[in-house]
Amino acid sequence: MNRPDTSPCASAHPFRSLDLGKFFISFYRGDVLDMLGKFNRGCADVIVTSPPYNIGTKYRSYSDTLPRSRYIEWMENVSLALRDVLSDGGSFFLNMGCRPRDQLLPMEIALSIGKHYRLQNTIHWIKSVTVEKFDSSGTLISIDTTGHVKPVSSSRYLYDQHEYIFHFTKKGDVKLDKQSIGVPFKDKSNIRRWKGNQRDIRDRGNVWYIPYETIQNSRQRPHPATFPRRLPEFCIRLHGLEKTELVLDPFNGIGNSALACASLQKSFAGIDMDSHYLEYSFNRVLSLLRKDRSVQDTAQ
Ligand SMILES: C[S@@+](CC[C@H](N)C(=O)[O-])C[C@H]1O[C@@H](n2cnc3c(N)ncnc32)[C@H](O)[C@@H]1O
Repeated sequence: MNRPDTSPCASAHPFRSLDLGKFFISFYRGDVLDMLGKFNRGCADVIVTSPPYNIGTKYRSYSDTLPRSRYIEWMENVSLALRDVLSDGGSFFLNMGCRPRDQLLPMEIALSIGKHYRLQNTIHWIKSVTVEKFDSSGTLISIDTTGHVKPVSSSRYLYDQHEYIFHFTKKGDVKLDKQSIGVPFKDKSNIRRWKGNQRDIRDRGNVWYIPYETIQNSRQRPHPATFPRRLPEFCIRLHGLEKTELVLDPFNGIGNSALACASLQKSFAGIDMDSHYLEYSFNRVLSLLRKDRSVQDTAQ
């Protein structure tokens, strides 16, 4: 598919934009609900985002401390505005986490959004996992922990090593490109066991291990709550690159979805209320593209 013919947002100018010929990367500054009202109906094929979780995270501009019921209502309103912007065959991937003491919140958000969409898949994003291996007699032969954890100092709660990715669609009938993020069969005899399967690649399933990159100290962290770039990349691939013209992240942060789109060569629109995060995102995309090739861009 080619780049979208028109700008996704007819009535607002981007804060920063890169026109790369085959695709564009645009960042819009403003409140999410105000901005979404300006976007063209049905313009986004994939929405992938991580909203504020209402857990008191210290963002630069946003205060992450709404009364709980207002937060749920706000998230429902955002999901309704996103529904107008999502194409009929589109996918909306919503990454949600929570505080250990309020573990029903992501489910309550999913329930309220589920009034307006179908919940097509629930994916578990695993940040760290321990794998034990046993020999045939049941003796432990190895134990390996991989990924990073944020310790929880409590005798009541386990370390929080996962978050949800709710995959909403309008009717629950969106065909996915499962092989694009597939994994090799462990038992190769299964390659031809299933009808229609010719390749050594199977469905990855709904548990995705995606670690954060290692950083040495928190002062190196330019934003307090990001997801790794591979997360939006998996979502976009799973929806299907061929049927994706435009990807939208309405809570852009420092642009990990934008980076995924730049590497996949897909048009992208990101919204955030904070100009510093948007400027940072823009510069990250520029340096990624410059690393990949020399860019003839028309930065605005
Ligand atoms: C969890 S972060 C997103 C991080 C992003 N996924 C990344 O990897 O960088 C949520 C972002 O939403 C933005 N935000 C919060 N409330 C907003 C609002 N009402 N309108 C626009 N942006 C908002 C914050 O500034 C923050 O950068």
